[in-house]
Amino acid sequence: MVYLSNKKAIAGLLLGAGAHMAAAAPAAPAVTAAPSLKDAQINKRGDSCTFSDASAASESKASCATIILSDITVPAGETLDLSDLNDNTYVEFQGTTTFEYDEWKGPLVRFSGSGLTITGADGHSLDGNGAKWWDGEGSNGGVTKPKFFYAHDLTDSTISGLNIKNTPVQCFSVNGAENLVIENVTIDNTDGDETNSDGDALGHNTDAFDVGSSTGVTIKGATVYNQDDCLAVNSGENIIFTGGTCSGGHGLSIGSVGGRDDNTVSNVTISDTTVKDSQNGVRIKTVYDATGEVSDITYSGITLSGITKYGIVIEQDYENGSPTGDPTTGVPITGLSVSDVTGSVSDDATQVYILCGDGSCSDWTWSGVSITGGEASDECSGIPDGASC
Ligand SMILES: *[C@@H]1O[C@H](CO)[C@@H](O)[C@H](O)[C@H]1NC(C)=O
Ligand SMILES: *[C@@H]1O[C@H](CO)[C@@H](O)[C@H](O)[C@H]1NC(C)=O
Repeated sequence: MVYLSNKKAIAGLLLGAGAHMAAAAPAAPAVTAAPSLKDAQINKRGDSCTFSDASAASESKASCATIILSDITVPAGETLDLSDLNDNTYVEFQGTTTFEYDEWKGPLVRFSGSGLTITGADGHSLDGNGAKWWDGEGSNGGVTKPKFFYAHDLTDSTISGLNIKNTPVQCFSVNGAENLVIENVTIDNTDGDETNSDGDALGHNTDAFDVGSSTGVTIKGATVYNQDDCLAVNSGENIIFTGGTCSGGHGLSIGSVGGRDDNTVSNVTISDTTVKDSQNGVRIKTVYDATGEVSDITYSGITLSGITKYGIVIEQDYENGSPTGDPTTGVPITGLSVSDVTGSVSDDATQVYILCGDGSCSDWTWSGVSITGGEASDECSGIPDGASC
């Protein structure tokens, strides 16, 4: 067993320029049998490792300061596991990273660590092969689909320039992050717009960025084509989403908030972003009969077009993923600033819909909200001073 896995590790571990591989390959003929602690420390500082095999990367990652992931095909039911990397590891995807089919929860890729730089070389892509799983049911039914990318417990780290396509279901799960920057990432699930015989898109619940229990997350310059939230913040603080383009999905969402372990969202700024051909533009939803808090939220410079449900929707009535029409007051929404939200919604859509419980929305400021097309809602309630429906 041990011999086999070492052999596999060696086969997958090609050397980067000027690198040496003592600690990573204890069974290699050219090196001593077992790495000493001293060797491991030296390698921690120095090695550049190129992996073309997922299990080799997972087994030998601890001895590399630079990790190149080259044209890896991740076997069915396995995670490309880059958790617990050394501090300040540089990781680069090269070529095409693909994933074989299995019905399981994933994740397909996982990173954790501190000071990490995770990026992609020109022409690289991470291809989730989503079409193999897509059945129009997402995470609500059908085959079990793997989540794509766990960015969990990342501290002082950057993910930049990744080209991702066709995720089976949700793409980034950001959790337990502290000072994480995600920059210039493209998620293209356009192929999931293809419909089944009922006319439903095959790709479903393909959220781009789900953020929870994190402090200090900045998502800049994201380009997203998908079939669910472009951004969904369930909990966390000091979160920025800026300079994005969102198409095909459900919009820029806070929530749903409530009913989880962590139900506080505060200090979130979402700015200078285009939302097109999507169900909603701006959305905040809190859970019926739950407790929690949504505070100090800013939406500014949001440009809308082709919105099919709501330009802006804020509601405190969600239960089991659907609105009940009956808002409760346990998750107040306070300190909301909405400015320069402009553009158009489609004929059947509603420009603005606000459904707050009695007194549970307060301290809102709105300016420069100008949405055309569709219709005005006559069902708003609990609208605080400053806002209008
Ligand atoms: C992201 O893209 C912008 C615009 O092309 C560029 O100026 C910036 O350097 C990029 N950031 C990274 C980390 O690549
Ligand atoms: C809000 O979050 C931003 C971005 O992380 C941060 O710079 C700012 O200091 C935070 N504000 C407060 C009041 O914590």
